[in-house]
Amino acid sequence: MQTIIEAAQLKQTCDRYRSQSESIAFVPTMGALHEGHLSLVRDAKNLADRVVVSIFVNPTQFGPNEDFAQYPRQLEEDMAKLEGAAVDVLFAPAAAAMYPEDFQTFVSNQEMSRGLCGAHRPGHFQGVLTIVAKLLNLVGPKVAVFGKKDYQQYQLIRKMVFDLNMPFEIVGGETVRESDGLALSSRNVRLTADERALAPQLYQGLSAAKELFDNRSERRPAALVEEFLSNVDRNAFQVEYAELRRQDNLELFAGLVDAPAVLAVAAHLGSVRLIDNIELGM
Ligand code: PAF
Repeated sequence: MQTIIEAAQLKQTCDRYRSQSESIAFVPTMGALHEGHLSLVRDAKNLADRVVVSIFVNPTQFGPNEDFAQYPRQLEEDMAKLEGAAVDVLFAPAAAAMYPEDFQTFVSNQEMSRGLCGAHRPGHFQGVLTIVAKLLNLVGPKVAVFGKKDYQQYQLIRKMVFDLNMPFEIVGGETVRESDGLALSSRNVRLTADERALAPQLYQGLSAAKELFDNRSERRPAALVEEFLSNVDRNAFQVEYAELRRQDNLELFAGLVDAPAVLAVAAHLGSVRLIDNIELGM
């Protein structure tokens, strides 16, 4: 694996791959890699000749009161995992390489970014879209893979690529879970033992809602959300949102669920903010 820290060198390497007719699959990350990321890397390996992974804890997607400083950083361990996954290139730039002092252009979405996480994390998706646009332009991949655990992020990136005519295919990777259902997240390490024991309730609630949807044909959004909530200990979890939305454009349903849907949730457990979701197909 080649590790690159300069943007110009990344571009040169990727240009060379393409000039040799080698296609590139790209997996952007913020590091603290776990099995969820490695599953995206495996997806990427099946989609192109070369796999490029980036590790960059992007400052512009963290709000002033968020966990930028506490976000886990473990480059050595991450590099060993990526070597083991036979990644071709790791791009791990310094912040100044991505945001030089005179940086002044941002990408923002005007609609789909408003609700769900966007309503609680002002500026977050502008930071995400800006860094993803920059990385995609540097790498020039045939395809880029994003985890569907961050469902709104995944759909916003698809929308950006469509709206801005960017010539990259965006693929969603399935959420990887612990055996008790907890979705893997770099933030899980910050849960106390008691919180860790409660955390799977989120997925239990989502699964109960899916069961109601699949086996009892419940189509009322409020009833499906209520099924989720009734499985979650509201004394322990501070639920930020639990909403049923259309999968493609993340709009709320005016009446009954009549299109493929996603039940998306965010909740604070102690000092840790967890998100998760489940797709409800039609
Ligand atoms: O999902 C993430 O890890 C980040 O939001 C991303 C897509 C790498 C952009 O910084």
